[in-house]
Amino acid sequence: MKVLEADGIVQVLDGREVLSGLDLTLGQGEVLGLLGANGAGKSTLLKILTGMQRPVGGRVRFLGKPLSEGYPGILARMGVSINGPVFYESLNARENLEIDLAYLALADGGRRAAEITGVSQLLEKVGLTADSVTPVGRYSMGMRQRLALARCMGHHPDLYLLDEPLNGLDPVAIGQLRDSLRSLAAQGSAILFSSHILSEVLRTADNVMVVADGRVSLRASVPELLNQGQEVAERTLVKAMEG
Ligand SMILES: Nc1ncnc2c1ncn2[C@@H]1O[C@H](COP(=O)(O)OP(=O)(O)O)[C@@H](O)[C@H]1O
Ligand SMILES: [Mg+2]
Repeated sequence: MKVLEADGIVQVLDGREVLSGLDLTLGQGEVLGLLGANGAGKSTLLKILTGMQRPVGGRVRFLGKPLSEGYPGILARMGVSINGPVFYESLNARENLEIDLAYLALADGGRRAAEITGVSQLLEKVGLTADSVTPVGRYSMGMRQRLALARCMGHHPDLYLLDEPLNGLDPVAIGQLRDSLRSLAAQGSAILFSSHILSEVLRTADNVMVVADGRVSLRASVPELLNQGQEVAERTLVKAMEG
């Protein structure tokens, strides 16, 4: 069964058609890189896939069922970080995660509470242990991104939707994020992430999908793209982004 299936997604914002019939599938254990020029509609698509935004046309199925069925409880089966994560700025990372995990346990009727990873373990996983008592308001962009990932991971979601998770990360943190995503996928989670760093998408993703003119202009497997060499692969992606 596919984790996520979207058919014919159409979205109109401010009278402008942003998405014009977009299809997508994402399987268990798959890492899909989402590419597109600024304003191509990547964040809009991710919001629609979470159910936070309703499209004017098309259907989204999550774990075989329409997204609207079982909403909002199914949010407890997703790990979502879109458009710059929002935190309680005066609280520290530990306190922020405690609140997030408490809400998640409630969202799923407490059933999965026993499976929720502890806060200390999460902080360790994303390398924030040493900074866990600093108010999040003093965090750098990269630290905020790490905390956002920790927030997504606590409840072992079936699906991760991550909007530009590489933004603000230094090269060491980028490598750590790549390892984290690969290991989450190896455990069976499906991951959809957007990024502008083509080389990194090609290193991390199994498949890539490019959005241009409101549609999928390219969907390809990364090993196949890389058959032609790194440079040609990146040029192919840029060309697809130009529509
Ligand atoms: N809430 C909104 N209201 C009106 N227009 C929006 C809204 N959100 C996004 N848009 C427009 O939709 C288009 C796609 O935006 P977005 O999904 O953020 O693109 P991307 O994430 O690929 O940069 C842009 O032209 C943007 O200005
Ligand atoms: Mg965006």
